[in-house]
Parts: sequence; C-alpha cells; structure tokens
Amino acid sequence: KRLRVIGVPSDLGQGRRGVDMGPSAIRYAGLSDRLKELGYEVQDLGNIDVPTPESRVQGLEKLKYLDQVRVVCDELRVLVRDALQEGFLPIVLGGDHSLSIGSVAGAVEARGNLGCIWFDAHGDMNTDETTPSGNIHGMPLAASLGLGHTDLVSLGGFSPKLQAKNVVLVGARSIDDEERRLIRESGMHVFTMADVDEMGISVVMHKAIELASQGTKGVHLSVDLDALDPMYAPGVGTAVNGGFTYREGHLAMEVLAASGCVTSVDFVEVNPILDLQNRTGQMAVELASSLLGLTVM
Ligand code: ARG
Ligand code: MN
Ligand code: MN
Ligand code: MN
Repeated sequence: KRLRVIGVPSDLGQGRRGVDMGPSAIRYAGLSDRLKELGYEVQDLGNIDVPTPESRVQGLEKLKYLDQVRVVCDELRVLVRDALQEGFLPIVLGGDHSLSIGSVAGAVEARGNLGCIWFDAHGDMNTDETTPSGNIHGMPLAASLGLGHTDLVSLGGFSPKLQAKNVVLVGARSIDDEERRLIRESGMHVFTMADVDEMGISVVMHKAIELASQGTKGVHLSVDLDALDPMYAPGVGTAVNGGFTYREGHLAMEVLAASGCVTSVDFVEVNPILDLQNRTGQMAVELASSLLGLTVM
C-alpha cells in the first residue's frame, strides 16, 4: 500500500500560534522512516501554502480568517481527492483542525459515502451562530454535516459531506452548551471519556467502527491530539484533562488497523511551541504507526 503525506501548516482556525509548525514537528519525529519500516511506499508532498500570520489581515467578521481557511481547505480537498484517486492513503498533518473541512470533502469526493471517526476532547460542532470563540477549528465536524457558514459548508460544491448516522465522536469531555444541542439534534454518535471509562476503549472502538462502517465505503479518521491526556500530548492549544492514556490511544489505533476500515486520516493540533521536547509530535508518529499495522509479534 502506498501512503501520501500532505502538510497543512495552518493556525488560521485558532488563536494560538505555533500549531502552524505541527507538520514539521511530526516529520521531525520520524514519520516517513517509521512508515517505510512498516513496508509502505511513502510519498511526502510537502506543505500547502498557508499565509503567515504577519502577512494576513483579521477583518471584523465573526469567523476568524474565514476566506483564507476556505482557500486552504479547498486546496487540501483537491490533494486528498487526487491522492485517493491515484491509489494512495492520504495522511494529512496539521495544523489546526479547521483543515479537516478540506480533507473530509476531498475524501468523500473521491470515495463516495464515507463514515467518520473523530478523536477529540471537543465536539468541533459549533457553527457561525453558536461559536463562543470565532475559531473555525471548533467547527469542522458541523461543516462536514452541512451545518454553519455557507463558505465552509459548500466546499467542493456539495453538502453535506457526511451522514450523522455514520459519524462517531470519541474522547469528548469539553462540549459547549449550544454544541451539545447541535450534537443531539444531528443524530451523530458520541462516546465521551465517561463511556470509555465504563466500557473500555476496545468495546468503544468496535462500536465506533461498526457505526461508521455501516453502508459506507470506508472511514475518514480525524485525530485531534487533544483527545489524548495532556500528560501524553501536552503540545496542543486547547488541552483538557482526563483524556486517553498512551495505552488507550494505541489500542484504539490497533483496533482500527485490524478492521482495515480507515481510508484517509488527519493528525491535527500539534503545537511544538507548547510541547515538551516534541512529545506530541512523537505521539502522532507512534499513533500513525499503530494505525498502519505496527504490532509486536
Ligand atoms: N469549542 C471551542 C471553540 O469552539 C474549542 C474548540 C476546540 N477545537 C479544536 N479543534 N481543538 O472554540
Ligand atoms: Mn480538540
Ligand atoms: Mn477554540
Ligand atoms: Mn478538534
């Protein structure tokens, strides 16, 4: 199998700068070599062009950097679509989570009906009307379900990208009030950290895979590193205590690997400025290895 790495050095979708260096941090942690050791052909396309903070202007609009986020997501949409059509599994490195609007759009364009498993401490289900922050990284799942600002929802000229019955949020522990309402109304599935505590990560993952796979042609996996406990992934902009342990994170990836359902993946929100000696970049690489078949025996 062939893998194609696409870097998106974006911090447009959130206030805290440094997440734009996430793709470098993940590459520096040895992503390509680790995946080659697993027997894959790895092609790295480098990074998408993202305007640097110093060169851009924040207008008065409520959604921060909306125009630029849209341009970046649209470019990513095309690259993810093409990668899949050319027989590669795309691995998208972020960058803030707003980029997933583009990767989901491209994946669905290439493959048709897809499920989605979203690892996150947050819901990422805010819209232009509910956002408490104006940060688009809090909106990508909503946009993919057809909720929110038209500029985000209409990417690629079709909407919604995903069907709520095939969308599963895993690891949630910080949801805004309005977001909670949207999640309930949408009909998507949520496994909170309390659910993980109750059932164990193995059961949660088997259920998530079943829900996301039902009637779909594959699963887009979006991994926000803040799903992990800050002890294991301190380099994120919106850390929340009580996340996945190292072991739970890996078992989740191993269960996904065994199922063979994942057809595209994002690793996002790695911020090396806030990190401790690139621990979070390393975690992304290790999770990617487990997802792509690293086993002990
Ligand atoms: N719910 C908050 C907001 O809308 C935080 C979102 C955090 N999202 C993330 N991708 N880290 O601003
Ligand atoms: Mn998050
Ligand atoms: Mn935010
Ligand atoms: Mn997120």
